[in-house]
Amino acid sequence: MKHIDVLLLSRDDVVSLSLGPAEVVPVVEQALREHAAGTYEMHPKIGIHPTGTDPANFLHAMPAYLHQLGACGLKWVGGFAQNYQRGLPNVTGIQVYNDTATGIPLAIMDCSYATGLRTAAVSSIIAKRCAAVDASALAVVGCGFEGTMHLRFLTSQIPALRQVRLRDVRPTAMAALRDQASDYFTGEIVLCQDNASTVSGADVIATCTNGDEHIVRPEWFVPGAFAVGIEGGCAYEAEALHLADKFIVDDVALAKYFDEIGRDRKTADGEPDPEFPGGMPEIYATIGQIVAGMKPARMSASERIIAIPIGMAICDIAVAHLIYRAAVDRGIGQKFRLS
Ligand SMILES: NC(=O)c1ccc[n+]([C@@H]2O[C@H](COP(=O)([O-])OP(=O)(O)OC[C@H]3O[C@@H](n4cnc5c(N)ncnc54)[C@H](O)[C@@H]3O)[C@@H](O)[C@H]2O)c1
Repeated sequence: MKHIDVLLLSRDDVVSLSLGPAEVVPVVEQALREHAAGTYEMHPKIGIHPTGTDPANFLHAMPAYLHQLGACGLKWVGGFAQNYQRGLPNVTGIQVYNDTATGIPLAIMDCSYATGLRTAAVSSIIAKRCAAVDASALAVVGCGFEGTMHLRFLTSQIPALRQVRLRDVRPTAMAALRDQASDYFTGEIVLCQDNASTVSGADVIATCTNGDEHIVRPEWFVPGAFAVGIEGGCAYEAEALHLADKFIVDDVALAKYFDEIGRDRKTADGEPDPEFPGGMPEIYATIGQIVAGMKPARMSASERIIAIPIGMAICDIAVAHLIYRAAVDRGIGQKFRLS
């Protein structure tokens, strides 16, 4: 029997590949087009919920196969929002990347950094198509890991942006992101003291918080604005969520599943904590349908559009495919003899 060697890639290994929007956006767009074409296999996330300090904590199993790209594998990922109190990341886990011909695991890699790449790529891909053509002001609420990734990807995909407003309950997180962003964004960066001055009148809104607060109020979500929320719909007041003329998700089954499990969810204080405040709005399209041109994106300058990507395993496996190839090309990582 031949030996099976698996490539092990730490988070530092993944980061050292320096993959950014130029490399990640095309491969995630391909995954989204395959989603629209139906050339994939994916299931709504199978989860367990060790509550700890937060009932929203989760561990998800996310298998995926993209036929055309020729990529398959499984992400086993945890999201524990209070981890920052222990000096640990919110999102941690492992991505297994398998060979589509033999099924053998080719690589086991950290999935936390790659999750940031794929989530920000998806948000920026739909923002590019749904933001107004003259969108100039971007609000980013939540300047942690995802907020940092989102700022980099959104500014790369919407070149008209001239002002970025940052908001975080931790002033140090805002300041750190401003300092980092000045490396690639030449417009104005404003650190905001409240949600109103951040969100009100922004052309593009990205919420990347822990989902504990309904941040976006209806009067701040102006005609012509595009908003993307990666905490389900939790960062939106019910009226704001339902104000959207177009409500877009990444996957209908996934969104329905999260809507269903969120209906009975309660906060640590026993308050209702639905995935979509006021219920899930009627879905206009999936992100893949917009990317594939099967459904028009923005059709008027005054439309309000919201996208809520729950997070698709097919986008993770597309990024894992990119990472595996780049690591092999550059000789990065360690080999583990599996058998
Ligand atoms: N949809 C997806 O595909 C997807 C993928 C990954 C992560 N997520 C979600 O994205 C969110 C952020 O993840 P992360 O890894 O960046 O976590 P993180 O802990 O690194 O960052 C969260 C940031 O939000 C800030 N914050 C919390 N409450 C706030 C509030 N009310 N107002 C302003 N700022 C606030 C925190 O101070 C922190 O800086 C989590 O909810 C996570 O579950 C979604």
